[in-house]
Amino acid sequence: MKVITTIKELQALLSEYRSASKSVGLVPTMGALHAGHASLVDRSVAENDVTVVSIFLNPTQFNDKTDLEKYPRTLEADCQLLEEHGATIAFAPSVSEVYPEPDTRTFSYPPTDSVMEGAFRPGHFNGVCQIVSKLFTYVDADRAYFGEKDFQQIAVIRRMVDDLKFRVQIVSCPVIREESGLARSSRNTLLSEEERQTAANIYRIMKQSLPMVETATVAEVHDYVVNEINAVPGLEVQYYSIVDGETLADVKSWDEADHIVGCITVYCGAAPIRLIDHIKYV
Ligand code: PAF
Repeated sequence: MKVITTIKELQALLSEYRSASKSVGLVPTMGALHAGHASLVDRSVAENDVTVVSIFLNPTQFNDKTDLEKYPRTLEADCQLLEEHGATIAFAPSVSEVYPEPDTRTFSYPPTDSVMEGAFRPGHFNGVCQIVSKLFTYVDADRAYFGEKDFQQIAVIRRMVDDLKFRVQIVSCPVIREESGLARSSRNTLLSEEERQTAANIYRIMKQSLPMVETATVAEVHDYVVNEINAVPGLEVQYYSIVDGETLADVKSWDEADHIVGCITVYCGAAPIRLIDHIKYV
């Protein structure tokens, strides 16, 4: 595996692969790689001749600078994991390489980017679109792999791809969970062992609410999940939104959309650490 830090070097190498008619998969990451990322890399390696994994902690998508400072940085271990999973290129540029000038572009895809994370983290999806559009331009991949853990992010990126007519195919890959049910996330390393166990209650309670779809209203299911999670010491729900899985607009009844998803954000523990998850109801 080659570790590359400049766009010029990346593009020179990719043009050699392209001349040899090799297909290219891209896995965008912010590092602190775990089994969830490994599953994206495995999928890309299986479906493409060349797999590029970007490792870039993108400052423009952090509206909270403390969150950015706290974010784990583990480049050496990341490269080892990528090597083991058969990635071809690890692209790990500096901030000045990617943003020699401040990026003043704005992206707006409501309601996908204005609700939930978009409402609670103003500017977050604008920053995600800034970096992902740059990566799509640098790599010009055939396929790009994203984890469904960031369910809303995939919906926003699909809108951007459609808007800007990138040729890349977006491949969404299932959430990878710990044995306890906790969704794998780079942020989990910031939790103590006890907090990790506490955090497992988030998905456990969401799962418990699944059969309620037969008998309860959307509002009742919403309140059940919020009240049960808030009753666990160490957990506090920021929002729970039950939405149309395509548009991400709120739904009021179970027959309002073909695909209905509950999306949650919960603060966990003393720090506290902000965790997101989702569950499919319909
Ligand atoms: O999902 C992430 O890790 C990031 O939002 C992404 C897509 C790598 C952009 O920085």
